[in-house]
Amino acid sequence: MRKMMRYEDNLKYWDRRWSEAECDADSFENLDIYPIKYAEMVVGNNNGRVAEFGCGLGRVVKHYHARGVEITGIERSEIAVQKIKEESSDLKVLVGDVSKLSFPDGYFDTILAFGLYHNIEDGMVDAIKETLRCLKGSGGFCVSIRPDNLEMRLNEWYWNFKARKKYGKSRPGYFHKWAVKEDEFRAILKDLGCKIEKVFYARNVSILWRVPFLRKYRNLKNVSEKELRSCGYQLNTVGELLDRLLRLAPRSFSNVMVFIGKKL
Ligand SMILES: C[S@@+](CC[C@H](N)C(=O)[O-])C[C@H]1O[C@@H](n2cnc3c(N)ncnc32)[C@H](O)[C@@H]1O
Repeated sequence: MRKMMRYEDNLKYWDRRWSEAECDADSFENLDIYPIKYAEMVVGNNNGRVAEFGCGLGRVVKHYHARGVEITGIERSEIAVQKIKEESSDLKVLVGDVSKLSFPDGYFDTILAFGLYHNIEDGMVDAIKETLRCLKGSGGFCVSIRPDNLEMRLNEWYWNFKARKKYGKSRPGYFHKWAVKEDEFRAILKDLGCKIEKVFYARNVSILWRVPFLRKYRNLKNVSEKELRSCGYQLNTVGELLDRLLRLAPRSFSNVMVFIGKKL
């Protein structure tokens, strides 16, 4: 695993992101995008209890709640939880750290965790163990993590280039996220008693989206973050064509690995 560093620590980064963002839409408009496309593979017709650990502003929790699924969101950022509660007081969303959960063993039938674990600098494996403790035997999971690949290295270079212009030449000093190889994460899940059924190399946002003239909305003032998060960060026709080429090498050009499986 490789540590990615930034000029802002992980906790401050998420609090800032969530305080700047508007609340998420009540449901995904496009079911073919990350993360809902993958959540659907395990939640679909599930009638039991579902948890989303690290639920952010609650786009997944809201989506399933609207469909009658019994879903609980757990999120470390008080700012994010407060925002969700102000808008949708009937949602079950709790402030909490996934390294120490208060649910009994096997409480949930299905667990989701999108982009959560790579934020935990110390004790990432213990946090995964703790979330799996709350999953019943033979319960399904869908979790995603940042891959250690070429796209992530280019991304890091881009952010550090931008930040260096802002803060000067010194190296970034704060932990941002872990970048993990597929085999490393497979080994962690297997050691914790999981059977991995599928692995996907997916995209939250294409790296090409950084280039304004390849975006569907060149000027971000014409589109809200709420729309981007529920419809996907769309590219224009040229961007989409180039992106298809990149997707021919998904292991190198992706920004999330999604693992679907069961607890044995
Ligand atoms: C990439 S965001 C994902 C948000 C949401 N799952 C989504 O897809 O929109 C990761 C979230 O995990 C939260 N998080 C990080 N460490 C956490 C921890 N130890 N316990 C609970 N939440 C945590 C962050 O605050 C952030 O909101």
